[in-house]
Amino acid sequence: MRRNGIAAAGIALLLFSTTAVLADGSGDPKATSSDAGEYRDAQGNPTFNIEKDGTVDWYTGVGYLRYTANCMQCHGPDGLGSTWAPALVDSLKTLSYSQVLDTVTNGKKNVNAAQELVMPSFGTNPNVMCYIDAIYVYLRARSDGAVGRGRPQKIAPKPPGYAAQEDACMGS
Ligand code: HEC
Repeated sequence: MRRNGIAAAGIALLLFSTTAVLADGSGDPKATSSDAGEYRDAQGNPTFNIEKDGTVDWYTGVGYLRYTANCMQCHGPDGLGSTWAPALVDSLKTLSYSQVLDTVTNGKKNVNAAQELVMPSFGTNPNVMCYIDAIYVYLRARSDGAVGRGRPQKIAPKPPGYAAQEDACMGS
């Protein structure tokens, strides 16, 4: 009896930890490659990278700033949600990278007699679209519990070539 109880607890623990790993709409967030400071997971989706000393990759740092400037007024500080827009730390547990990209580009509406939820479309806004991977990576790190609230304390240096790429995207 006792043995079975322990075995059952072990199985429950195993199931629980499997679920916890999969609670990311884009799958395993582990970085498997990087190009000019932008990390990607095994599926090729943008992801975060955190050094042993807590230093976050450049994109995660940029994502924090861009999220705060463009999304926070509706989605709340640190992706935690507000009364009029969902907590993106929760949304990213099921939404994939391409779904996030689609929603930010094209917007989304859920308007009826009881509520008026409108996510604007940012497809033509360079302040958002030039940084969408950074914003995604930051929110992914928040959703996976890899980055806490507030501005990450230690951020990796700006990758070589980043500034030129940014200028080209912003059209300056
Ligand atoms: C003016 C308010 C507002 C701003 C600014 C805003 N959003 Fe939203 N967003 C919403 C609302 C409201 C919804 C819910 C829409 C719905 O339910 O159809 C939403 C939904 C979303 C969703 C889908 C969430 C889900 O669970 O389905 C994503 C992803 C998202 N927003 C990302 C962003 C990002 C990234 C930014 C910043 C670049 C941003 N939003 C800026 C109001 C906003």
